[in-house]
Amino acid sequence: MAVEAPEGVRIPVWLDVDTGHDDAYALLLAAHDSRTELLGVSTVHGNAPLEQTTYNTRSILEALGRRDVRVHPGSAKPTSRSAVHAADIHGVSGLDGVTLLPEPVQPAIEDVSFLDAMYHALATTPANTAWLISTGTLTNIGLLFQKYPYLAVHIKGLSIMGGAIGGGFTDAPMGKVKGEGERFGNLTAFAEFNVRIISCDPEAAQSIFTNPILAPKTTLIPLDVTHQVLGTAEVRHGLLYGYDPRAITSGAKPSPVRALFTQILSFFAHTYAEVFALTSGPPLHDPLAVAAAIEPETFNDVGGERFLVDIVTKGVHAADKASVGELGRTKVTKLPMGQPGVRIPRGLDVTRFWYLTELALRSADATTPMAEVSWGKLREGGVV
Ligand code: RIB
Ligand code: CA
Repeated sequence: MAVEAPEGVRIPVWLDVDTGHDDAYALLLAAHDSRTELLGVSTVHGNAPLEQTTYNTRSILEALGRRDVRVHPGSAKPTSRSAVHAADIHGVSGLDGVTLLPEPVQPAIEDVSFLDAMYHALATTPANTAWLISTGTLTNIGLLFQKYPYLAVHIKGLSIMGGAIGGGFTDAPMGKVKGEGERFGNLTAFAEFNVRIISCDPEAAQSIFTNPILAPKTTLIPLDVTHQVLGTAEVRHGLLYGYDPRAITSGAKPSPVRALFTQILSFFAHTYAEVFALTSGPPLHDPLAVAAAIEPETFNDVGGERFLVDIVTKGVHAADKASVGELGRTKVTKLPMGQPGVRIPRGLDVTRFWYLTELALRSADATTPMAEVSWGKLREGGVV
């Protein structure tokens, strides 16, 4: 059953999110894995504008029965450019297609600087224990280490979902947009969304991937890995009914949390089939950054390889993808064995990941977060 932390010691984590469909699963894992202590959440521009990603985050935490977790709105745009959002993937709200979201009760924290809140929460943990986990654009993260460089020494690690490497880094299916050739990015043919946006922030990219203290503590989970974890119809059914083989015959009704998270994954599945022709199921990007912090051993890097990471920051930052060139491309150089650098796994135990997700849903079920959802609402929401 539950996976216990060694001798009960919890892993302090802080999440920085741009809550869209896959960020919701990152919040699920961070809020309900039995080994984590979720210190707080900061929000950032990305999938949708900041006020929307903040609302979505508060609503998901409400659904998870974790209104105790404080949400701190962060940056509304990259430090020196305009924001670009992902309405084509997540819809205008960032969580389109989801009718079962509860109204959040806990207000966002506006009276304290989000950077100070992040610093205080992380700096007051025991040295070398806390993980900072980024599942959105990297603007907040870059600003944090610029204002508080010492944190790079104090924390155990930084886990980032972002980047797209390509060139056979893994053999994950990357999908294809009509009329394009090789694609390994999802924002442009070369650039992945979270890192692409940060390439509008060259300072942030440089201060993270080339920081001599931070880089060896950083795990980067690129699309090349996340596209190995697909929310297939079988996975969605399993998570909806808690892998109960009698679910259909017994007429069991899914719990409100499971109904909500299945609805989230179903919308994402539709988007990936439509936009990237990935019809077997959507890659669930963001929770992998959480899993990589909680259970690094579930991810495999070939023989402990480490990398130098460089983001292509030349090119016109523009919403029209045609004029962007290779802006935002993640270029990696494998380092000689033993030389410290960024950890970029090439794969993971996918079954183990879905098991952790199931355990987190069981924990969320045990917390009484949401009112019973009627069959009518479930059907209306397209869950059953
Ligand atoms: O490219 C995928 C990443 O960009 C995910 O974090 C998704 O939520 C978006 O932020
Ligand atoms: Ca995200």
